[in-house]
Amino acid sequence: MTTQAQTPASPASPAGLEGVTAGNSSLSRVDGTAGHLYYCGYPIEPLAEAGTFEECVYLLWNGELPNAAQLAEMKAQLTADEKVPTEIWDLLRPLAARNMSLMDLLRTGVSALAAFDDEVATTREDVDGRMEIERRVANRVMAKMGPLVTGAYRLQKGQEPLATKAELSMAGNFLYTLTGEVPGEYEERIFDAALTLHADHGFNASTFAARVTSATESDIYCAITAAIGCLAGRLHGGANMRVMRMLEEIGEVENAEAFVDAILAKPKGRVMGFGHRVYKVEDPRATVLRRMADELTKSSGNAKWFQMSRKVEDRVKERKGLAPNVDFYSASVYGSLGLDPEIFTPIFAVSRASGWLAHVLEQHADNRLIRPRANYIGSPERAHVPLAQR
Ligand code: COA
Repeated sequence: MTTQAQTPASPASPAGLEGVTAGNSSLSRVDGTAGHLYYCGYPIEPLAEAGTFEECVYLLWNGELPNAAQLAEMKAQLTADEKVPTEIWDLLRPLAARNMSLMDLLRTGVSALAAFDDEVATTREDVDGRMEIERRVANRVMAKMGPLVTGAYRLQKGQEPLATKAELSMAGNFLYTLTGEVPGEYEERIFDAALTLHADHGFNASTFAARVTSATESDIYCAITAAIGCLAGRLHGGANMRVMRMLEEIGEVENAEAFVDAILAKPKGRVMGFGHRVYKVEDPRATVLRRMADELTKSSGNAKWFQMSRKVEDRVKERKGLAPNVDFYSASVYGSLGLDPEIFTPIFAVSRASGWLAHVLEQHADNRLIRPRANYIGSPERAHVPLAQR
């Protein structure tokens, strides 16, 4: 009989795999000590402030920034794949009427889209040209993410989804298909930069979920569905919506400090939008988003969300020494653009889909099953007792 003493012990991993390097990637580099983030070697700040989200998608999928012709070709491919089949709306309509959350509608919608992709089944086998087929599938998924979110949102409000406009960017189309109004250049620009800032971030939880799923040689729809489920959690993408809910609850700038104190007085109380597993200094995305929130506030004349956010930030820093993460100022940026907090996490999903898809393609280009071991801490071996004797 094997006893526990004879079982070889596996070394325990740090809780939450903190500090563990789980594989190679050439997509993004997170420097948590200095507070920098790079996509394929480029710092995120100029990519967000001088580039477009489409350029960022091209970069993540190809490893290089596009020239004008390459960018135009990519835009044309995305535009060609944007239409969501009416059957998907018919599927989601009754679910939306049951108050299913937008992230759950998105998860269901992406999963169901597989039924309308004639090529996806072949990618589960080792067929010739599989990577090329997967790139086409990735394009279809990326193109439909925004329209799926805005269409599902409209269904929730009892409205019908809107078709995209070929002349608009992905950011412009998101805002247009959400509201029915073509956004101003400034709003589109800010929203586009926010999409770029959220696109990729090393082996974050949802990206890792996508990679683990695709490493079983499962298909892209399965990987993105898993990633969406993972992003929805309040410790990951679900935080930005909760930041806005918190700001709404605080209500007035002068209530901010007492509100933070009340959260921190609770055992394990967490202020949403603060702290990070990797960054030991300020998240560089928060720095850009703070600047954008400040700018937006000044142009809109409504300083409330930004001023309240600054107060919360100062208090959390003073009390816990924690800096804001990407979710904190993205909330006041989206809030200042007049967006509903329910759509904040789905916006994160639309942007991060570009990174998820890049990671799936990277995983499949040099795949090995991801299968770690568990450090068993349960009972030692014991004799089975039949039900009648228990
Ligand atoms: N509010 C209050 N305290 C926080 C905190 C927060 N947002 N984030 C971390 N802490 C504290 C913890 O209470 C803990 O303190 P303690 O050692 O005194 O108990 C310490 O900081 C370490 O936290 P831990 O949960 O171990 O860090 P982690 O690396 O496992 O978690 C997050 C990282 C992001 C999950 C965590 O910071 C968090 O929950 N943040 C809020 C949710 C959020 O904004 N998520 C979006 C991430 S981009």
